[in-house]
Amino acid sequence: MVNYLVVVFSYSFYFRYIAIKIKDMMTVNVLFIGDIVGQPGLDIVQMYLPSLQKKYHIDVTIVNGENVSDGKGCTEQEAKILFGLGVNVITGGNHTWDKHQSQEYLRKDSRVIRPLNYPKGSHGNGYNIVDSAKGKVAVMNLQGRAFMATIDCPFRTAEWVLTKIKQETKIVVIDMHAEATAEKLALAYFLDGKVSAVIGTHTHVQTSDERILPGGTGYITDCGMTGPYESVIGMKIDAAINRFLYQTPQKYQTATDNVHLTGVYLKIDSETGKTTEIERIFIPEFDKKI
Ligand SMILES: [Fe+2]
Ligand SMILES: [Fe+2]
Repeated sequence: MVNYLVVVFSYSFYFRYIAIKIKDMMTVNVLFIGDIVGQPGLDIVQMYLPSLQKKYHIDVTIVNGENVSDGKGCTEQEAKILFGLGVNVITGGNHTWDKHQSQEYLRKDSRVIRPLNYPKGSHGNGYNIVDSAKGKVAVMNLQGRAFMATIDCPFRTAEWVLTKIKQETKIVVIDMHAEATAEKLALAYFLDGKVSAVIGTHTHVQTSDERILPGGTGYITDCGMTGPYESVIGMKIDAAINRFLYQTPQKYQTATDNVHLTGVYLKIDSETGKTTEIERIFIPEFDKKI
């Protein structure tokens, strides 16, 4: 009798193990890190990224790098460090264009992308398809137009290019780099069920509205800034105050203190391309008592 129970238990354990393994094979784990600001941001990514990739069994790592080169763009130097950590795609935004070196680098490395809806002829590409061990994952970068440059329509641009991307993969993660909450939400609902996730970037403040929309699109209005929080969105405080006081340009410098890493983890069903789990990441937590 005991032997019989041992056999039954072993078989049920074995089948459960196989079921978990099969489910795991059909799931793509994506880590998205919010706007990395300067050397402090790069340092904290180097510190935490390996353990996050291990904890969540990450297949694809995406980072927004529009501010990684001292607040302005992403050059080959920073990109090399990020790719060395296992980053698959570096997305951009309005600050991608701040340094001419960043613009030149966009032409050299297709893993560094910029918003797709900049006018035709701008340097670089607006999406990249990662060939991961679990299949192809497309990463697209868009930029909003509310309170930002009047570039092409992000809604129509995404719709147009999705017809092409969908011939290769159902898994599509979008970095929607925009100022206005409404524009990010509207884009997410516009693409709900057509893409795996719409992750907001640019405001440098993480929102607590991460969720999965009815069609299966994972969403967060802004996944936050990876960089120094004793600052005004990453830059030294005095210059930022003076800019508002005097309404004139000030010399911006990257701040250094109270550094945090922000992002989201997405679990995506590789058969359907839908997000099945979304988790907001903010480490370390803010001190809320002194
Ligand atoms: Fe940014
Ligand atoms: Fe930005």
